[in-house]
Amino acid sequence: MSSNPGAAGSAAELNLDAYWMPFTGNRAFKKSPRMIDRAEGMYFYTPDGRKVLDAIAGLWCVNAGHCHPAIVAAIQQQAATLDYATAFQIGHPKVFELAERVVGMAPEGVDHAFFVNSGSEAVDTALKMALAYQRLKGEGARTRLIGRERGYHGVGFGGISVGGIVANRKMFGAMLAGVDHLPHTHDLAHNAFSRGLPDWGAHLADELERLVTLHDASTIAAVIVEPIAGSTGVLMPPQGYLQRLREICDKHGIVLIFDEVITGFGRTGEPFAAQSFGVTPDLITCAKGLTSGAIPMGGVLATKEIYDTFMTGPENMIEFFHGYTYSGHPMAVAAGLAALDVYAAEGLFQRVTELAPVWEDAIHSLKGLPHVIDLRNYGLVGAVELEPVPGAPMKRAMDVFAGCWEEGVLIRTTGDNIALSPPFVIDESQIAQIVDTIGRVLKKTA
Ligand SMILES: Cc1ncc(COP(=O)(O)O)c(C=O)c1O
Repeated sequence: MSSNPGAAGSAAELNLDAYWMPFTGNRAFKKSPRMIDRAEGMYFYTPDGRKVLDAIAGLWCVNAGHCHPAIVAAIQQQAATLDYATAFQIGHPKVFELAERVVGMAPEGVDHAFFVNSGSEAVDTALKMALAYQRLKGEGARTRLIGRERGYHGVGFGGISVGGIVANRKMFGAMLAGVDHLPHTHDLAHNAFSRGLPDWGAHLADELERLVTLHDASTIAAVIVEPIAGSTGVLMPPQGYLQRLREICDKHGIVLIFDEVITGFGRTGEPFAAQSFGVTPDLITCAKGLTSGAIPMGGVLATKEIYDTFMTGPENMIEFFHGYTYSGHPMAVAAGLAALDVYAAEGLFQRVTELAPVWEDAIHSLKGLPHVIDLRNYGLVGAVELEPVPGAPMKRAMDVFAGCWEEGVLIRTTGDNIALSPPFVIDESQIAQIVDTIGRVLKKTA
């Protein structure tokens, strides 16, 4: 029996005990569960029939809206045609087609796609690619990886090592050796309430020069950053910051990795944030929007230079000893191809660009409301930073999350930030509903 019968509508008879939920306060959830059992377009539906506006595209992934008929049909057809294809030494045509389509959308020079099943796998794959690339070039001493404070790169050991969220790191031992971190770029004193990219902070990229001086370039393989850092509260790159990182990496032979797991596939109005910000990295990690969240899939996109460096030695040999049973899974590939078709047919990336000014005004209309200490936006990304309750970090944001859920809007919180990233099919009245609801709940929880 449920630990809280009746709380979840038709789920009341469920036993909630066995499932250990990820990134969730299990005991609190099981006392007071929030369930969804259906979705369509911009909405989730609860088992008791409530309609909840999805202000976060599931988890930054359902860019085309929920249960898009074209994506559903493609998955159904694929399931009945080729359910699984061995991934090693055997191919199926659609995976080659998807790779070509994806690199066709990527910045010029990024020409190859390696498929995985999640953002975390994409990150660990990219880190391994960077290390192996340096070694193949005869630079085997370059084993150091540089991440950034407040970065999130998934939950694999590589990802948490270069990541910069203390709660995700502190329980898990020493992690990868030889990792260092750049400082994060978030600074309320200089940049609070900036619209789009903040003016102040490009010089923070010069900290990479300091790390080069400390460790020597000959020991550094790669730098990994999110162009927009999502999981610690949606932090925009200061103007010129990513360009500066690129220059320093070029100067010292360091591979630059952009983790575009949340920004890839249109979130900033271009296929990748690399294009929005005019900076081309050597490797791009992606996932989420690749299939519009319908089937798990991720990828690492690599420059020709990196790919070609691997393509040496005897031709019968495996060039990169890495891959997953489900790499390029036919169902994920079908969902990916259908998602890319939908993005193109419905002009959804263009729609992000068109809605961005409306979104920006809506987000910044929350200025002056109780406890709001910063508002941030870019493309269809938004953040509301709240002053923490003294001695109770995260409480204020969690109260707002619970209040919005009650009022029929799903938001996401990270620390005392509200992070917003709706599906691209959102309309102006739904944007208004999101900010009106947050505003109302903020006043109630004041
Ligand atoms: C920037 C970034 N990298 C990696 C990941 C990990 O992706 P996944 O949860 O699919 O492993 C995430 C997830 O939100 C992310 O935001």
